[in-house]
Amino acid sequence: MTGDAKDIDAMNAAEAEKALADLAQRLARANAAYHGADAPEITDADYDALKRRNTAIEARFPSLKRKDSPSDQVGAAPSDGFGKIPHEVRMLSLGNAFDAGDVRDFDARIRRYLNLSDDAPLAYTAEPKIDGLSLSIRYENGQLIHAATRGDGAVGEDVTANVRTIAQVPETILGAPDLLEVRGEVYMSHADFAALNERQIKAGDKVFANPRNAAAGSLRQLDASITAARPLCFFAYAWGSLSEPLADTQSGALDRLAALGFSTNPVTRRCDGPDALLDRYDAIAAARAELGYDIDGVVYKVDDLALQARLGFRSTTPRWAIAHKFPAETAWTRLLGIDIQVGRTGALSPVARLQPVTVGGVVVSNATLHNEDYIAGRGSDGQPIRGGADLRIGDRVEVYRAGDVIPKIRDVDLSARPDDAIPYVFPKVCPDCGSAALREPGESVRRCTGGLICPAQRVARLKHLAGRSALDIDGLGDKEVERFHDLGWVRAPADIYDLQARHGSGLQTVANLEGWGETSARKLFAAIESARAQPLAKVLFALGIRHLGEVGGRDLARHFSTWGALARTVDAAAPAAAAHRAAEEAVAADRLTAEAEGRRARVTETRAAIWQDTDPAARAAWEEITGIDGIGATLALALCDAMAAPQERAAIDALIAALDISAPEAPLAESPVAGKTVVFTGSLEKMTRAEAKATAEGLGAKVSGSVSAKTDLLVAGPGAGSKAAKAAQLGVETIDEDAWLALIGSP
Ligand code: IVH
Repeated sequence: MTGDAKDIDAMNAAEAEKALADLAQRLARANAAYHGADAPEITDADYDALKRRNTAIEARFPSLKRKDSPSDQVGAAPSDGFGKIPHEVRMLSLGNAFDAGDVRDFDARIRRYLNLSDDAPLAYTAEPKIDGLSLSIRYENGQLIHAATRGDGAVGEDVTANVRTIAQVPETILGAPDLLEVRGEVYMSHADFAALNERQIKAGDKVFANPRNAAAGSLRQLDASITAARPLCFFAYAWGSLSEPLADTQSGALDRLAALGFSTNPVTRRCDGPDALLDRYDAIAAARAELGYDIDGVVYKVDDLALQARLGFRSTTPRWAIAHKFPAETAWTRLLGIDIQVGRTGALSPVARLQPVTVGGVVVSNATLHNEDYIAGRGSDGQPIRGGADLRIGDRVEVYRAGDVIPKIRDVDLSARPDDAIPYVFPKVCPDCGSAALREPGESVRRCTGGLICPAQRVARLKHLAGRSALDIDGLGDKEVERFHDLGWVRAPADIYDLQARHGSGLQTVANLEGWGETSARKLFAAIESARAQPLAKVLFALGIRHLGEVGGRDLARHFSTWGALARTVDAAAPAAAAHRAAEEAVAADRLTAEAEGRRARVTETRAAIWQDTDPAARAAWEEITGIDGIGATLALALCDAMAAPQERAAIDALIAALDISAPEAPLAESPVAGKTVVFTGSLEKMTRAEAKATAEGLGAKVSGSVSAKTDLLVAGPGAGSKAAKAAQLGVETIDEDAWLALIGSP
């Protein structure tokens, strides 16, 4: 690459100027290719050689150094191949239904939430679930402005140039709202997929495994002319930001999108109630093979958009829609072995190693075996599964996969069991660190007790921490975490953040690793730096504390706002956590005898006695944590345990010190209940409890399950009992349901 370059010492100024211009251009192009494309254009070594040559020419001709000199760009934040586009309205996924029972439950849940009787009319749409990738396209005044992939739901990739090449996506639309974000699925038809793979084979390029991968690979091309040569299609089925509603119903909105020039799915129907949905599901399943494109189920949506708005969302899925998936694909193969993986909370998870087999177009060689009872032929309720048959190495097993989920084992063929197959003995010590692996009473999972001394737990926690849904450190994927851990460079979370500093010239140390180079190292350190700024909720989730998921992280962050406030309260609650545990253990030990003796009251007495000896400040702190709606004693205990274990606490404190943590977004300033703690009690008549809670939270209120001195408002319906009395005693303002609705300005 640099072999034809002229000797620098022999250059005159004009030649040097030209060479610098040329190098700036080549390096910029290499950067762009590196950051976005799956295959960089030049090797790291060639890149470094170009950089060195640039520096040498500049050293000889300092006055010719360019304003955009590549040597000034060392350590600059890398621009990704695709720009990022934040979604004003989050792009969510859907909950799943697998059988008629799940669909009826979905309908029943909605009726409960909306307080509708079983026979009240409730219409849905039934739409094929297109197996492609979702896209959001923004139009302003009828002009296509940009298009973004779903990304993590909050921020997507800017694929505008590529989307402009899709024939079914109009560039201009007439008579649309001033602002319209159209959402739908990009997919590739079976015919186009087959033709594309044929062309790929002829050109000696890679063959795509299925139409979905082909569509994704084509949309995520840095060169839009490649996308243009790959026929992609688009079905519109939803929307994001809008300046005015499209219609009153989902079906009406689809009609409106069609009238604006978008392709909408012709198989979609409006259905009255779950029976009609199930009939439609059967009809779509029967027609599946003739559609000419892949679908993996049917999506049901509440048709009335006003009801959709009332139903709202859970953390990542709407309450008003569900995906009814087609049954899993299955295949028979041999169980070659059982490996044990140790997870971040120490859980020992058995994984089946299988003779590779194709299940629904995908080669499967591993499947989850859940836990030791599952291998032994018992379900989580202790009842026999697979007719009680255990799984042995060498067995012929039936594997299945439904959608994207991890393959599982459905059945075993005992007639094909080898004579020498022996029952599997689940390990009682951690295969990674040798610590005891224990099973708590009532738990199906066996856990390694090694904590942070267990390398497997450490690595799993680091992977979780750096992962997309936690601190999202680009370039620090599972492979890299394992490598840095094995090298001894990253053992605890905070090590990530001083990796560069600790190694003197950390950049060079990483750049010198095989498979790395200066560019990738630079890119990694820039990503680490930009991952210092984190919202509190993400940090809490990233800690990988048992029972503390994304929703728990958000609830805690909303309540405490800062790490300091949370840590102080958790520390203060430690004695109460210990008392709680002691009380529960004493109660468990005592319960059987007490109950046998007909002395139920003794259980309550035991609990009260232990509790009474606990410092009131500790009790108040414990009650504050467990009073947060959604945070129960199990999570509170896990949190207190993690913060009280010295080694673990040191690791947490070091991480917190390395981060720049932001408080949760301020609630809607104009809401009269923003920032207030509200408790609902008694029976509500105009809305269900779940709806009341979701609305209040949407307006920035904190909803608590119990009344305390911190409660700002009690909303009491008929039949309110002890909570109303406590509120009166504490002087907490109490209002009825109508006053609440008037307060929040609800019609
Ligand atoms: S509605 C808020 N409708 O399925 C709900 N999604 O598993 C937005 N999908 O991410 C989704 N066909 O990529 C909807 N008719 C359809 C769909 C559909 C395919 C995809 C979409 C979504 C995923 C959820």
